[in-house]
Amino acid sequence: MLEKIDELLSEVEGFTAGSKDELEQFRIRYNGKKGVLNDLFAAFKEVPNEQKKAYGQKINTLKQAVASKLEDLSAGFSTETFAEREDLTRPGMPLELGGRHPINLVKNKIVDIFKSIGFTVADGPEIEDDWHNFTALNLPEYHPARDMQDTFFIEQNPDILLRTHTSSVQARYMEQNEPPIRILSPGRVFRNEAVSARSHCIFHQIEGLYIDENVSFADLKQTIQFFTTELFGKSKIRMRPSYFPFTEPSAEVDVYWGLNTETDYRITKGTGWLEIMGCGMVDPAVLKNVGIDADKYSGYAFGMGIERIVMLLYQMGDIRMFFENDLRMLKQFRAL
Ligand code: PHE
Repeated sequence: MLEKIDELLSEVEGFTAGSKDELEQFRIRYNGKKGVLNDLFAAFKEVPNEQKKAYGQKINTLKQAVASKLEDLSAGFSTETFAEREDLTRPGMPLELGGRHPINLVKNKIVDIFKSIGFTVADGPEIEDDWHNFTALNLPEYHPARDMQDTFFIEQNPDILLRTHTSSVQARYMEQNEPPIRILSPGRVFRNEAVSARSHCIFHQIEGLYIDENVSFADLKQTIQFFTTELFGKSKIRMRPSYFPFTEPSAEVDVYWGLNTETDYRITKGTGWLEIMGCGMVDPAVLKNVGIDADKYSGYAFGMGIERIVMLLYQMGDIRMFFENDLRMLKQFRAL
């Protein structure tokens, strides 16, 4: 009896149907009212008790083999067309399109503006060495101005750190390229600062560098004015004396935002002016450090925080939002 079922099982497994009729014959032979399976189930009561378990298992295996065979083969003979099977009037699945992160949107805008006047983009590592982040930029060890940027050092090697500004890219580029140099260095920077609505330990900068013969402060001012006009539609700027170790003279740039709305009053603290970047003429000591002839060449540099600019452009109040990946915030930038 048990061998008989084994034979049936291999017959079922080996079965192929040449036509829909053959398949129907197969179905009737096994699953029909007077089919093989019903006969076998009916014979169950005559099976000796000690064989009942093995017998039961075997006919169940056979039953499953028949069912899956029928399913496999009938798919091949289906005459239903796709349109009959599916409801073509059903609305499609909505396709969620992604969008750019606001930091990237604004970075790209800024890059485009400077590209139009001959700048190209330069890249560099986020994990830097002391030389490119500090020393080459006229910030030797123990220089007090190192404290202006609280630094994350790598514990095992104090020579390695997370770059605190993208000026490090400029140092690298100047070492490897001859003037004229006209580059932008956008990227992520790191400072060991407490996270709050106004400051973050990770943020993005975009810095510019121009080195050539006879580059003057007037060139710097013109370039920045062109930039503020293009980005904000505002051409009134002022430069306040400031200090950076790598530039001399140095300045802080304010753009006149105006006092037209209540928001203008709030964000400019009633002055109408907003600080947007630091800049200056590259210190000859920096040029010497990177092997550029400081008697022949001069240049300017500027740098700004991208988050700050995005917050101004889109009236956002909390820098932490940029790093939370909250879709409710990100989706608002999708169409831009
Ligand atoms: N590197 C400066 C900073 O991170 C910005 C800057 C760049 C200032 C170039 C002057 C010139 O604060």
